[in-house]
Amino acid sequence: MIKKEILITSAAIDRRVAEIADVISRDYEGKEVLLIGILKGAFVFMADLIRKLHLSCKVDFVRLASYGTGTVSSGKIMITKDIETPIKGKNVLIVEDIVDTGLTLSFLVEKLKERDPHSLKVCVFLDKKERRKTPFEADYIGFDIPDRFVVGYGLDFNEMYRFLPDICEIKDSQEIGEENGRSM
Ligand code: PRP
Repeated sequence: MIKKEILITSAAIDRRVAEIADVISRDYEGKEVLLIGILKGAFVFMADLIRKLHLSCKVDFVRLASYGTGTVSSGKIMITKDIETPIKGKNVLIVEDIVDTGLTLSFLVEKLKERDPHSLKVCVFLDKKERRKTPFEADYIGFDIPDRFVVGYGLDFNEMYRFLPDICEIKDSQEIGEENGRSM
């Protein structure tokens, strides 16, 4: 069993998601919004967020993957499951669990801009600013966190622990190094 420590409790998450939802609801008052969740990690945050918004919103999902073999990523991203909704002229809000190097979101934002939405913003639950490889700033941020390997609330370690209600830090650095080869 891997050693884990709670970094952000589910109660703190609940309060913060409500705060962000209030800000988003104010910013988009009277408008219709399409929320685009990035699979898989964003599904928990997205589910909580939409239920706290006081807005008429629709949802869609995209799945992205980075090229490369094993644990070594080339940094090139591709869409493996596209959204099913045309976004031309729409207010689009991308919802993501975490921004790390910034490569995933920079790629998606550029791709979606080509489809000519009326507005395009990004809401991330966690932001690891010190890990950026490309400049990227989200419009809404749940929590800024240091460069620690975190799981729970949708985030995984080898597909495990997405179900945890808290954000937990994995303390067993050997396990992470051996099995994952990357710091996240
Ligand atoms: C994670 C996370 C983001 C991305 C962030 O996804 O959900 O999509 O990495 O990293 P970046 O800022 O360095 O690009 P992951 O590939 O682990 O897939 P998952 O959401 O299915 O767990």
